[in-house]
Amino acid sequence: MTRLIMTAFGEPVDSVALDTTPIRAPDAEEVVVKMEAATINPGDFLLIRGQYPIRPALPYHHLGVEGVGWVVSSGGSARDLVGKRVLVLPTYRQGAWADEVVASRDNVMEIDSDADGLQLAMLPLNPITAQVMLNRFVQLEPGDWVGQTAANGAVGQWVIELAKRRGLKTLNLVRREAAAETVLRHGGDRVVVMGDDLEQRIHDALGDQKLSLALDALGGDTGMAELSSALKFGGYAVNYGSLIGGPAQISTEALIVNEVRSTGFWFYNWLTRASRAEVESAYRSFLTLLDAAALNVPVEATYQLKDFREAFKHAETERAGKILFVFDH
Ligand SMILES: NC(=O)c1ccc[n+]([C@@H]2O[C@H](COP(=O)([O-])OP(=O)(O)OC[C@H]3O[C@@H](n4cnc5c(N)ncnc54)[C@H](OP(=O)(O)O)[C@@H]3O)[C@@H](O)[C@H]2O)c1
Repeated sequence: MTRLIMTAFGEPVDSVALDTTPIRAPDAEEVVVKMEAATINPGDFLLIRGQYPIRPALPYHHLGVEGVGWVVSSGGSARDLVGKRVLVLPTYRQGAWADEVVASRDNVMEIDSDADGLQLAMLPLNPITAQVMLNRFVQLEPGDWVGQTAANGAVGQWVIELAKRRGLKTLNLVRREAAAETVLRHGGDRVVVMGDDLEQRIHDALGDQKLSLALDALGGDTGMAELSSALKFGGYAVNYGSLIGGPAQISTEALIVNEVRSTGFWFYNWLTRASRAEVESAYRSFLTLLDAAALNVPVEATYQLKDFREAFKHAETERAGKILFVFDH
């Protein structure tokens, strides 16, 4: 087995190493998955830098939270999965950045899909994050407005896609002009580029409308205070990421006058608290869309595991889609 492991907390290119080790035999409830593709996400880098809620013991062998592959063998009670294509779920109990993964059967999900492996590898984390955030906090009706930071990121693009399908409108913050074009191309209703007079420009973009929900991927002073000032009475400000870090910001006036509510969302909490039926049903809704070729999430590039340093550098530059590892078997 070839995998990436983490030997220290720090910069990903310095703290991760390629490791070749014989794969261990699966326990009774485990399967061995030959991986097709595994995604690189910002959360992976936060974890490696020691900035993630999970701070594992070192060396850490479970890098990479999501991917897709085929079950090639099993312990005694998971034989029914052999030969099946499965999603590797973001449970932090196995690492998807490996050509072969030993996982508990509870940490994979069988999929009867011949969809593109790259699209499948990006399914476990970001689409469900977007979907749950749109469902959980406010009862959104067609015509309601959702605001968000980092709107051209993967979660942001899923928010736009799912909002469009429900007749919701999106007000999208980005940090550069090229990203604004991407967001409009994907169907975002309004885009505002970060900068001076942000609060006023958000209000101008909304006209006489107000936001029902505001989503922030960045943390710190990056637009959430201004977005929250455009929330309607009782609206929700939800932080789900800390790419920049620092305390989450919210407009004091919005808290007082509009009784705006502020909370957060972490996918891991959802995954570990939802019933298996709920988890499977959430994924099936996206698999249906993928199988109908109704969704095609942008991919910037793919890399072999051995080229992980190039992949990591690429993943932290301006890009138009995700970076993934692919595996030749
Ligand atoms: N809470 C959860 O359960 C959960 C689940 C999934 C993801 N997340 C978090 O959500 C965030 C986004 O994830 P993703 O997969 O959508 O990321 P992604 O596809 O890699 O996109 C990153 C986005 O963040 C923007 N960005 C990065 N650094 C920035 C900065 N310094 N200032 C302004 N914008 C910046 C990027 O803008 P450019 O294109 O201009 O670089 C891009 O829009 C990450 O923090 C991730 O950890 C949380």
